[in-house]
Amino acid sequence: MTPFGSWGLLMAFLALLCCPGCGEEASEVAMWTEQLVVESGVTQLINCSTNCAQPEISGLETTFSKHLLDEKPQWKLYEINVSQDTTVLCYFTCSGRQEIKRFNISVFYPPKQVLLKLQPTFVTIGRWFTIECRVPSVAPLEALTVTLLRGSEILYSEALRGTTLSPQEAIVIHNATAHREDGHHDFSCQAEMDLQSRGGSLIHRVSEPQALEVYEPVQDNQMVIIITVVSVLLFLFVTSVLLCFVFSQQWYQRRTGTYGVQAAWRRLRWPHRV
Ligand SMILES: *[C@@H]1O[C@H](CO)[C@@H](O)[C@H](O)[C@H]1NC(C)=O
Ligand SMILES: *[C@@H]1O[C@H](CO)[C@@H](O)[C@H](O)[C@H]1NC(C)=O
Ligand SMILES: *[C@@H]1O[C@H](CO)[C@@H](O)[C@H](O)[C@H]1NC(C)=O
Ligand SMILES: *[C@@H]1O[C@H](CO)[C@@H](O)[C@H](O)[C@H]1NC(C)=O
Repeated sequence: MTPFGSWGLLMAFLALLCCPGCGEEASEVAMWTEQLVVESGVTQLINCSTNCAQPEISGLETTFSKHLLDEKPQWKLYEINVSQDTTVLCYFTCSGRQEIKRFNISVFYPPKQVLLKLQPTFVTIGRWFTIECRVPSVAPLEALTVTLLRGSEILYSEALRGTTLSPQEAIVIHNATAHREDGHHDFSCQAEMDLQSRGGSLIHRVSEPQALEVYEPVQDNQMVIIITVVSVLLFLFVTSVLLCFVFSQQWYQRRTGTYGVQAAWRRLRWPHRV
């Protein structure tokens, strides 16, 4: 035996040790779905396939309900309704050996509604107002970023945090002082859910625009002065009318009171004369 021949034998032995299935046709299971990050309540199609030429047993293992839609020896197409994060597995048996592939499916609840509230909606320059944005029923919360905008300018942006998998309401509150420009642009709130790192997409939703009415503080002072002057004048007028009324009543009683009594007295004493 040449040294070269023994080297070849060693290589073959090593190959046998490292790769016990090398002699057979290596089979592989693949799974194709539209997305591994799926929207809650949306039916998903899952295609389990193998490159094994003649698979014996095959299927999809899941805790959720499934329908077999179509099949060929090398693939099976299922419809499944997933309502929470789960692991599914595809299996095929090829030449007596079972091949399994697991896939994690995560469910998300996208932002469907973005509700913006300005409080108060009438504000004087320099005074505080609150911008509140609510995004009901979203998950995963940590994939969500809420941005408050004035026109196209970003006023405030917050990356939400949360650990629960169940959908919940995201609330972002920001206080700001009113500027003159605040009256010239609409406010809006934008919710962005980034599922790209999980194999999904970027979901974007914007609230209805809201306007803020801004008042000049000078105008405000003028209003106060006008209201005060009108109030004082009104008070003086009402007081003088009341005083006139009271004095005239007293004067009238003093003048007619005695005559009234005398007339009644006369009627009492000489009723036949009247
Ligand atoms: C399922 O996947 C296999 C392998 O990629 C492919 O050949 C087959 O056409 C797919 N079936 C459907 C219904 O998409
Ligand atoms: C999934 O949901 C849809 C609509 O709600 C329904 O038509 C379908 O039968 C469901 N599929 C399974 C596998 O439960
Ligand atoms: C799937 O989820 C399990 C448990 O939730 C985790 O241990 C595993 O690493 C995940 N696999 C992948 C491919 O993400
Ligand atoms: C905003 O203002 C309100 C009332 O003026 C206050 O209760 C709240 O804590 C403030 N929030 C922030 C984030 O400053």
